[in-house]
Amino acid sequence: MNQLIDVKNIALDPDQLVHNDKIATPMYTSSELFEQEQEKIFRNTWVWVAHTSEIPDKGSFKLSKVGREPVIVVRDRKDNIHVMVNRCRHRAATVCEVHKGKTSSFQCPYHGWGYGLDGSLRALPNPEQYGDDFDKSQHGMLKLRVESYQGMIFATFNESVEPLEDFLGAAKKWIDLFMKQGGGYPVKTLGEHQFSVPMNWKVQLENTTDAYHFPIVHKSFLQSLDEEAEKTFTFLDGEGFVEDLGNGHSVMVMIPELVDLEEDLERKIPERFEELAQALRDEGYPEDQVRRIVRAVGGSGFNLNLFPNVACSMAFFRVLTPVAVDKTDIRHIAIGMEGGPDIANRVRLRLHEHFQGPMGFGSPDDAEVWERIQRGVDGGAELPILVNRGIEKEVPGEAGPRGHVSDETGMRAAYAMWKRMMQE
Ligand code: FES
Ligand SMILES: [Fe+2]
Repeated sequence: MNQLIDVKNIALDPDQLVHNDKIATPMYTSSELFEQEQEKIFRNTWVWVAHTSEIPDKGSFKLSKVGREPVIVVRDRKDNIHVMVNRCRHRAATVCEVHKGKTSSFQCPYHGWGYGLDGSLRALPNPEQYGDDFDKSQHGMLKLRVESYQGMIFATFNESVEPLEDFLGAAKKWIDLFMKQGGGYPVKTLGEHQFSVPMNWKVQLENTTDAYHFPIVHKSFLQSLDEEAEKTFTFLDGEGFVEDLGNGHSVMVMIPELVDLEEDLERKIPERFEELAQALRDEGYPEDQVRRIVRAVGGSGFNLNLFPNVACSMAFFRVLTPVAVDKTDIRHIAIGMEGGPDIANRVRLRLHEHFQGPMGFGSPDDAEVWERIQRGVDGGAELPILVNRGIEKEVPGEAGPRGHVSDETGMRAAYAMWKRMMQE
């Protein structure tokens, strides 16, 4: 298992880079491999681009990325969602640089070509100078295939890829459970922050279902909690599990009693949520709704990793964008309740800041170890990166192997998919 890998002679062959129990260092360091991933993975499968609540109205749009390629996600006047490459068909300027907003059309700032909300070319200055055979219908913005599930919008360049729901497969059940964080209201995004980490994107991909690091890296977070909450987050000795959901997706259940937020609403409200519960009662919410909302605010007891770029993690979306072999952008998007009580959404945001925020107790610690991985792999290229934890004790789950919560089952699931896609 611990044998060295002859990295000088492996010629970036996926078979030699990825073994079930380990991967090779060039996985994090090879620019050539990074370029191949853009083509074979990010252009070829469903990539998360937005949540429907980010583009709520006709004409709402936001900028996003599919791999490195800049796209605009927009809702047209008929409520259809379009995803198109943010590149003018004239001389390639980005057509929009506003991160998010509302518009009736897009106009390129360079020579004024104007596009509709569906990306079609509508108007251009002095069109007669292009000659008679210039056909506007052939010069719309490049569009991607778009499908959504539970408000999560995905896009792909691959017209013949399987339908989104088939690709999500066993992960759909977990997305449904995750969306119960609406507490009876539709889920909406509340706010986000973005940061860059000098690491390969796969370091992040691995992290979402890595429970093993939690008590070590997030010690200061655990110390910042009251005793009751600290006990809830000390889940390594509990009944949790991690499961391969197929197609690279995986779920890590940390707190089994918080898998279904609508189950067992009679349970005692944790002390840290008592103030919120009382405020909701004071606003006139009936007790069962108070409990449902409080449960929703506390977040799901699991992390769901959707290959290749989005995680549903307890109470937020974590989106990764590959920038370079050793650079990845991360966005943490807090979620809340559309039309729900303001106070509940405010508490949700405070919780988000506590762990995920730039001054929080969680994410800065994660970013530090991710960066250290990228620094460490500059040495000892022949040493393997181990993903073998728990490999011998896995049992069959509903969709794929299931292991103890701290096992590296999720990483093995992601790398099996990586290998499959890189070989196609
Ligand atoms: S580059 Fe957009 S109009 Fe010329
Ligand atoms: Fe972490």
